[in-house]
Amino acid sequence: MGKLTDRLGRGLRDLRISLTDQCNFRCAYCMPKEIFGPDYQYLSSKEILSNTEIVSITKCFVELGVQKLRLTGGEPLLRKDLIPLLHSLTNETEIREISITTNGVLLPRYAEALKENGVSRINVSLDSLDERRFSKISGERGKPQAVLAGIESAITAGIPTKANMVVQRGVNECDIIPMAEKFRMLKLPLRFIEYMDVGNSNQWNLSQVFSTKEILDTIKSKYSIQPIEPNYRGEVAKRYRYLDTGLEIGIISSISKPFCGDCNRARISADGKIFTCLFASKGVDLKRILRASGDEGKLTEAIANVWKRRTDRYSEERAETTKTESKIEMSYIGG
Ligand code: GTP
Ligand code: 5AD
Ligand code: SF4
Ligand code: SF4
Repeated sequence: MGKLTDRLGRGLRDLRISLTDQCNFRCAYCMPKEIFGPDYQYLSSKEILSNTEIVSITKCFVELGVQKLRLTGGEPLLRKDLIPLLHSLTNETEIREISITTNGVLLPRYAEALKENGVSRINVSLDSLDERRFSKISGERGKPQAVLAGIESAITAGIPTKANMVVQRGVNECDIIPMAEKFRMLKLPLRFIEYMDVGNSNQWNLSQVFSTKEILDTIKSKYSIQPIEPNYRGEVAKRYRYLDTGLEIGIISSISKPFCGDCNRARISADGKIFTCLFASKGVDLKRILRASGDEGKLTEAIANVWKRRTDRYSEERAETTKTESKIEMSYIGG
């Protein structure tokens, strides 16, 4: 088989699998509590992929050339059988790298086990160090100290860790410098993320986006930085380094500088659908194929066919207002 590419010539390189659509936070930009309240219908345990199914799906992607897997949620550490899953992924598949994106609060409990079971990188979300602002952002669920304790335990376990900060105008742009200072002290990379119009719940609008240029201007008001060459084609974050310490920072500019041209990521929802864009509306049900036949060959073929048809470039097409057709929620697809 020749190299698998989509209709725009993009290869399939990275895989992101959401392990659960549930989270212990209610960030207003992701799971606003007005919508994700007590009556919200989460996926049932029957609908969620089992560990065996996740392993099968991963093997198919490896067959198609994927080497990197990122586990997401919701909050992936809420998955009860996460450690056995990691054990199987590490021992039964040829995947080269497993990373996790988490809100961090459960890391003190799991960091050691993550390390022992093959997790090689962790990204932790943290939008503010200010207790009141963080509480508001997380839907009154979180404390920055708890997230920082999670980060500490990942470091102690020896797992390279980065922080993600979503910047929203009028909410937390005042936290850019304090966060930069804190992560300079911790000597960990911090990435600033432009607020995106993911899903339909967050009432996104362009005026809430604190742009890459504004983020860079804020950083440069205090620190000298210089751009770094990308590690590889299709890297999500544009990276910079502080001139004094050499420490890296990154900016993820999905709104002002979309990076669809090199997008090589496939996403699997917690209920086993493949989505070829974060902003997609529909996915192809891999779980149905798997449960009907149990045949990994068939599944691999189905995935290849989805990828060959792919034309997504949503961030490049995005107009001033977001698309009206319903989009999948971030908590369902994992960012
Ligand atoms: P690294 O491997 O550490 O670079 O991870 P990552 O940045 O790819 O993953 P992470 O889960 O930390 O995501 C950081 C931010 O980038 C989140 O807000 C994601 O939603 C966003 N992101 C990741 N991939 C894409 C993408 O393909 N398109 C868009 N628009 N945003 C993305
Ligand atoms: N825009 C940008 N980033 C978001 N995230 C969640 N929702 C949004 C959004 N609307 C981030 C989380 C986490 C990562 C997976 O995505 O903060 O760091
Ligand atoms: Fe949970 Fe992350 Fe969504 Fe916040 S952004 S509600 S921590 S999944
Ligand atoms: Fe990829 Fe879609 Fe993000 Fe563009 S908007 S980079 S196609 S996931």
